[in-house]
Amino acid sequence: GRRPLIAGNWKMNLTHLEAIGMVQKLAFSLREPELEAAEVVVLPPFTALRSVQTLVTGDKLEVGYGAQDLSVQDSGAYTGEVSGAMLAALACRYVVVGHSERRAVHAEDDAVVAGKVRAALRHGLVPILCVGEGLEVRRSGEHVAHCTGQLDAALEGLTAEQLTEPGGGSGLVVAYEPVWAIGTGEVATPEDAQEVCGALRSRLAERFGAETAGVVRILYGGSVKAANTAGILAGPDVDGALVGGASLDADEFAQICRTAA
Ligand code: 13P
Repeated sequence: GRRPLIAGNWKMNLTHLEAIGMVQKLAFSLREPELEAAEVVVLPPFTALRSVQTLVTGDKLEVGYGAQDLSVQDSGAYTGEVSGAMLAALACRYVVVGHSERRAVHAEDDAVVAGKVRAALRHGLVPILCVGEGLEVRRSGEHVAHCTGQLDAALEGLTAEQLTEPGGGSGLVVAYEPVWAIGTGEVATPEDAQEVCGALRSRLAERFGAETAGVVRILYGGSVKAANTAGILAGPDVDGALVGGASLDADEFAQICRTAA
């Protein structure tokens, strides 16, 4: 089976000092068997990554970390950007790519998202590739096609080998985040989450083979709280959660992780 993955996307919240406090609380609340059963990851802002790295490595915490975005480019005159090489140098394992807030607020189109997936893979980072439909698409009933289309575009031209880690594990995570469920308190039903996550896995199988599709973790994101986690994770193709708001409350996030374990 696939090990559940719970990732906390802090978005533009928490200074590096607050980040240290948050990771300490989290590590204190979770027990070893829980951290073995479920993989727990935090995704702080860039400015907190070094502090989180120092804490996690210094205290040998079983908490993973990664970034919320990266540049398409590897280095050069790109003011304000952060490269995959810089994230890899901080031993980040994950990087979010194509979050709906980047797509909407920063006008990232499918070509940019595809470039960022490649940049992440080039530097040995595991992209957490986000896809998801807005309310209009959901109402039109085209949500499955919309999400598989975003998946296709982001993974255009890649091979199964590129999506596999040297040890044989998966080098890709996919997150289904319906835009209408993000930060709204309106969580998708377990059936909605399973429908799209299942379709995404089928699409991965068509493109890259059953073996690759079988090891990719597919997460659901959008108003996940401790109270709705068990239902969401019940779907056979839902392997975890990408948690926004609730990841800023250490007790609530720990409870989500416990539920997944
Ligand atoms: P919320 O959990 O706050 O709805 O955010 C979801 C999200 O966007 C995670 O990436």
